[in-house]
Amino acid sequence: MNLLITGGAGFIGSHVVRRFAQSYPNYHIYNLDALTYAGNLENLKDIEDLPNYHFIKGNIVDEPFINDLFDKINFDGVIHLAAESHVDRSIEDPLSFVRTNVIGTVNLLNAAKRIWSNSYDKKRFYHVSTDEVYGSLGQEGLFTETTSYDPNSPYSASKASSDHFVRAYGETYKLPFVITNCSNNYGPFHFPEKLIPLFINNIIQNKPLPVYGDGKYTRDWLYVEDHARAIDLVFHRGKNHETYNIGGFNEWQNIDLVKLLCRVMDKKLGRHAGSSKNLITYVKDRPGHDLRYAIDATKINKELGWEPSVTFEEGLEKTVEWYLNNSEWLKNVTSGDYQEYYSKMYS
Ligand code: NAD
Ligand code: TYD
Repeated sequence: MNLLITGGAGFIGSHVVRRFAQSYPNYHIYNLDALTYAGNLENLKDIEDLPNYHFIKGNIVDEPFINDLFDKINFDGVIHLAAESHVDRSIEDPLSFVRTNVIGTVNLLNAAKRIWSNSYDKKRFYHVSTDEVYGSLGQEGLFTETTSYDPNSPYSASKASSDHFVRAYGETYKLPFVITNCSNNYGPFHFPEKLIPLFINNIIQNKPLPVYGDGKYTRDWLYVEDHARAIDLVFHRGKNHETYNIGGFNEWQNIDLVKLLCRVMDKKLGRHAGSSKNLITYVKDRPGHDLRYAIDATKINKELGWEPSVTFEEGLEKTVEWYLNNSEWLKNVTSGDYQEYYSKMYS
């Protein structure tokens, strides 16, 4: 099998590429990534010499390039993760989200449709999406696969749009697809613009922890390797033309999560209990901030037997240890452009 994985140099993509390259030595894994600020080949150092792993630098927005690539390599499947992924950046620059998340996805759909048009047998386009497309929950309820789309940020609107295009290609052209909508991931190689790695980095450096609004916003958190395992299962055993929700059954208000993280960091850094907590600073809220996300992952559990394997406490501890043991990685990704981004967003 020739398998194209897009966005494989990013956070989740690198875990997916690693899992597939190691678990399926008979598959050729082609990692296509533009290496934006979020893409980093250091994330894949440990597997870069595997004979079944191939890296291709390229942009999914570049239509001639994508067409040429699909002409050259006979892909049997696509797992599409490449995206602009950060809500705060989408508020600053929505168009770059439209380009990559919408136009880039349609370019891939067109190329797959064209190349596979003789026979869709054993072909599959897997689109990786987010629970944020469903919008915001109140205090009660869970997102199921039939919850109406109601995106609130430019990021979630662009992901919702790409999901609709994937479905539309399934309906109109019978392209075999699956979509998964997953909750917030955390773990190694997470770029420190997102809550958990940003706060880990700030605690290490004794910098303020900028909690948006009152900190009562709620997210459902999943350890990234559990997401990669779900993607493996759905890719191989999920039903075509179906959506599966993936979540951690693990809801946390931001402020409670941050306090737990502070306790873990104090312990691991050998600092006085309570010292990291003193860094918490309430700052101006994110515009259009979704109150609560929570996933009902019953379908993937019942149909494919998937459930999270890592508790949040275990996952958070593993994550903190990884960042402390990989200070060089953290230093590299937080130099240069990151400093500019940080002062623009947080000063
Ligand atoms: P990320 O930002 O860490 O990585 C994105 C990767 O895509 C990077 O390697 C980047 O270089 C690449 N990329 C960006 N634009 C590109 C382009 N135009 N052409 C080719 N490559 C490009 O993102 P992530 O957190 O790993 O998320 C991966 C996917 O999973 C995204 O589709 C995201 O919407 C989805 N998702 C993320 C989460 C989460 O919690 N992070 C949760 C659910 C779903
Ligand atoms: P984030 O990691 O950006 O993921 P998402 O917005 O996709 O859920 O943010 C998680 C939560 O943490 C969200 O409610 C916003 C909040 N947050 C802060 O309070 N401060 C921060 O500096 C960041 C990045 C996020």
